[in-house]
Amino acid sequence: MNLYRCLAWPLIRQMDAEQAHRLTLTLLKTGWLPPAPQDDPVLATALFGKRIPNPVGLAAGFDKNAEVPDAMLRLGFGFVEVGGVTPRPQPGNPRPRIFRLEEDRAVINRMGFNNAGLEAMAARLGRRRSDRRSDRPGGMPGGLLGVNLGANKDSADRPGDYALSYDRLAGLVDFAVVNVSSPNTPGLRNLQGREELAALLARLQPLHERHGTPLLVKIAPDLADEDIDEIAQAALAYRLDGIVATNTTITRPGGLRSDHTGESGGLSGAPLFERSTAVLRRLHRQVGGKMTLIGVGGIASGADAYAKIRAGANAVQLYSALVYEGPGLIARIKRELAALLKQDGFRSVAGAVGADAA
Ligand code: FNR
Repeated sequence: MNLYRCLAWPLIRQMDAEQAHRLTLTLLKTGWLPPAPQDDPVLATALFGKRIPNPVGLAAGFDKNAEVPDAMLRLGFGFVEVGGVTPRPQPGNPRPRIFRLEEDRAVINRMGFNNAGLEAMAARLGRRRSDRRSDRPGGMPGGLLGVNLGANKDSADRPGDYALSYDRLAGLVDFAVVNVSSPNTPGLRNLQGREELAALLARLQPLHERHGTPLLVKIAPDLADEDIDEIAQAALAYRLDGIVATNTTITRPGGLRSDHTGESGGLSGAPLFERSTAVLRRLHRQVGGKMTLIGVGGIASGADAYAKIRAGANAVQLYSALVYEGPGLIARIKRELAALLKQDGFRSVAGAVGADAA
C-alpha cells in the first residue's frame, strides 16, 4: 500500500500548494526520518570526481533556503540542489504562485525567486559544515550538495549577482549552478544569449579558477537547436564543469487537461519530459564525455531516469513527481533503475550514459 497516496495525498490536495509545501518542510525539519536503506551497488557513480550512492538528485526550488538538505539526502537522494538563492532576500511574486495540474501530473509555478537571501543561506550552510566537521555520532548522510544561483529581480548588475553568490558559497557546497533559465524573473533568460552568456561566464571564470568548485549552467527547454549548440560551445570555451537540462517550460504542450493550464509561469512534470530529454540528447552530441550533464524534467519512474541516462545524463534530478507520489518515489525510481541497468547488462550507471547515441 502506498501510504502517501492513500493517507497524505487526499489531505494535501485540499490544501493550497504552497501551504502544503511549507508543511512538508516543517515535517522534514523535525528530522524524524529513518535513514533510507543502502543503495544497490549498481547505482553508485561519481559526480565531479566524488562518489555518490545513486544518480537520483533533488532538483532546485524544493529547498530554496537550504533548510532540509540532509533530510533529503537521508530520504535517499544521491545529491541535492538547494536554492535558487539571490544576493538580497526577496519576496517573489504575489500568491497564489504554484498550481498543481493533477490530471497532467504537472505543476505550473511563478514563484519568482522567493528566498531569504545569500547571507541566510551562507549562515545555514556554514553551520552544516561545522556540524559535519564535529563528526557527531550518527553522522550525516553521504551525497553531494549543490546550490542554484539566481539574480535579484531589481538588480542593476545580474552577472555581478551570480559572481557574488558563487564567491560566497563556493567553499560551502560541492557544486554551483548558474540559473539563467527561470521564466519568472523578467529578462533573466536573455542571459542565455550568445553575448550575454559569454560576458557572464567571463565574469565567473577567475572566481571558478580560484575556488575550483564545480560550476554548471542550467538552461531552458524553450531554446532553438542553434542556441543549445552555442551554449554548449560557450560552456566548453569557459571550462564549465557541466550543464543542467532543463528548467521549466513557458510553452503549454498540447493535450493538457487540467484547470490551471492557463496560469502563467513555468510548467514542469510529465509534459516536460520529452522536450527536456531532446535538449539533453542534443547536448550529449555536443559535449558528452567532456563535461557532466544533469538531466531533469518530467522524471516520475525508473524508466524515465534510465531514458535520461541513455540520452546522455550522468545523473538526474526531479521535483514535480514528488508532489504526486511522495517520498516513496525515490526508492521506487532507484529500484526500477537498478533493474533496468542489470536487465540490459550494464554494470554501472556510467556504462549506460549516452547509450542511445552510440
Ligand atoms: C522549480 N525549478 C527551479 N529551478 C531552478 O533552477 N531554480 C529554482 O529556484 C527553481 N524553483 C522551482 C520552484 C518550483 C515550485 C518548481 C516546480 C520548480 C525547476 C526545477 O528545478 C526543475 O528544473 C523542473 O521542475 C523540472 O523538473 P520536474 O519538476 O519536472 O522533475
